[in-house]
Amino acid sequence: MKTKLTSLLGIEHPIILASMAWVTNAEMVAAISNAGGLGTLGPNAGARVVTKDVDETGERLREQIRKVKALTAKPFAVNFVVGAAGLDKEFSDRCIEVGIEEKVPVAIVSQGSAKVLTARLKEAGMKVIHVCASVGHALGAEKAGVDAVVASGTEGGGHSGFDQNTTFTLVPQVARAVSVPVIAGGGVADGRQLVAALALGAEGVYVGTRFIATEECPAHPRYKQAILDSRDGDTFSIRHGSMAKPGSGNSGFTSERRGSLRMLLSDKFREMIIAHGGQLDFSQMAELQKAVPMEKGGSITAAAFIYGDPELPFWAGGQGVGLIDRVIPCGELVAKIMGEAEESLRRIKRVEST
Ligand SMILES: Cc1cc2nc3c(=O)[nH]c(=O)nc-3n(C[C@H](O)[C@H](O)[C@H](O)COP(=O)(O)O)c2cc1C
Repeated sequence: MKTKLTSLLGIEHPIILASMAWVTNAEMVAAISNAGGLGTLGPNAGARVVTKDVDETGERLREQIRKVKALTAKPFAVNFVVGAAGLDKEFSDRCIEVGIEEKVPVAIVSQGSAKVLTARLKEAGMKVIHVCASVGHALGAEKAGVDAVVASGTEGGGHSGFDQNTTFTLVPQVARAVSVPVIAGGGVADGRQLVAALALGAEGVYVGTRFIATEECPAHPRYKQAILDSRDGDTFSIRHGSMAKPGSGNSGFTSERRGSLRMLLSDKFREMIIAHGGQLDFSQMAELQKAVPMEKGGSITAAAFIYGDPELPFWAGGQGVGLIDRVIPCGELVAKIMGEAEESLRRIKRVEST
């Protein structure tokens, strides 16, 4: 399938692996790129234990990038987080230096304003895709010179926008507002949704949760099984950051960075939500961030995503979970999505002719 996105990136199919912390590695990324999509190394790719060392973070990323290059000659991406001073900026800066040194072909930039990194990454020769959760955010990214934007809807797993715009409403509004290619993200798990995204004005899709249920994904089997077991009502989303202006106590949450976090609704979360009168806010979630031992990765996300700790079912997942019923290889998944898209296009033609 040819779209503006496939031409821009030199890929065969308009499917991008969304940036995901912990649950990507070089093998997974290369498998997706080799299958004609675009694999993306997310934060902590290939790691099993957290590090608080900035240089080690950079060297871990370098090792993963080199591994991807050894496994594929096709384009791939690395996620760079914009970063906030005092929070993650130092780590982010080091990863960018490594990405530039290693000549990464595509940068997917998330969690912040496109003004911060776009020029530097473009000068280094990268194609830059910025993840946006509102029309204003996308317009700002276009102005900053990005090559494409992801319109990231609230259906998506993990981090998405504070305003909780749905993919179905956000994509056509962003596509109307900007002239760079738009990529639809949030809740996309099959080829019918790829065709729907194209109908809404997108040039491709940005897929996270569906790729966790693959053989190459380093997520713990309990996490993968939780995705297979989840149905349409089994995710929930909480906001972080606030409507308040940056600098008013919301450390690290600039207007582009504040957002919502969508998780799988485990029994533990159900109990917490009931105990908090039907609601949960980010600070209550953060209570779970108690010290996690190094043998469980040293962070709550590693403990959940990589070690599958049933006491810490902190599993991110999008509303597309109800569409996911099998763990299959990444290459087979890319082919499956494209096959479903072709079938969907045939179906639309049949509807048209009757
Ligand atoms: C396990 C997991 C981890 C994620 N980690 C990140 C991250 O580190 N940075 C980021 O920008 N987005 C992150 N996201 C959000 C994804 O990039 C993407 O927006 C989302 O997965 C798309 O929706 P989907 O999961 O329904 O496909 C994460 C999502 C998941 C499911």
